[in-house]
Amino acid sequence: MTARDRLIFALDVDSAAEAESLVRLLGPEVGVFKVGLELFISAGPAVISRLKNAGARAIFLDLKLHDIPATMRGAARAAAGLGVDLMTCHAEQAKIFDGMDLGSTKLLGVTVLTSLGPGDLAALGYPPELQDPQALVMKRAGLALAAGCHGVVCSGKEAAAMRALLGPEALIVCPGIRLAGEAGGDDQKRVMTPDKAVAAGASHIVVGRPIRSAPDPVAAARQVVAGIELGLQNSDD
Ligand code: C5P
Repeated sequence: MTARDRLIFALDVDSAAEAESLVRLLGPEVGVFKVGLELFISAGPAVISRLKNAGARAIFLDLKLHDIPATMRGAARAAAGLGVDLMTCHAEQAKIFDGMDLGSTKLLGVTVLTSLGPGDLAALGYPPELQDPQALVMKRAGLALAAGCHGVVCSGKEAAAMRALLGPEALIVCPGIRLAGEAGGDDQKRVMTPDKAVAAGASHIVVGRPIRSAPDPVAAARQVVAGIELGLQNSDD
């Protein structure tokens, strides 16, 4: 896997046309394009084949499924039928898919959203021992892998502990990536730079606004890939 293959770009836009033009612009720089709720709801399932035709080599359908077992299984079967490479469910529900054949689609368990910090977990009613995001992330990651997920989504802050827990093969996908490594100005709280997240054990990083909102998105994507390369060197040391 090259450094570029490890960069997942979040297509958080509301039209297929805008997503296609981002794929054409960033296709040479990015390994995986992520379709989230905003684009999937706005443009519908047909957007997946449109993005492939525009040059996306791999697609991550990030719908973070969370429902009763029958609905989850039906939704996962439909998503796999779209030919996506990666998809997400909430980690505590991953057991619902145990034993299901999703073809070549890999399943990732979302542990704790990177927009949530300790204060949020307390306000949501988690007991004191689970108000530290890392504790809750580790608990949920264990559930996801035991249920047959190929990996998890967590913040870079938890990547090292996650790699130690899950071993060398698991996919560890980290959003909440910021080039300056600092939270501020948006909804992400548990943030990290590309090189630090990869050095800590992330197999992939998810980057949206730091590329999309940059004055030169191609240059920003290249800067992220350079950060991934640096992180890979540091993880070999
Ligand atoms: O713009 P930004 O780089 O914050 O985008 C991060 C992307 O990663 C968004 O599409 C968001 O939905 C997704 N994500 C996340 N935290 C998770 C799982 C997915 O931020 N735990």
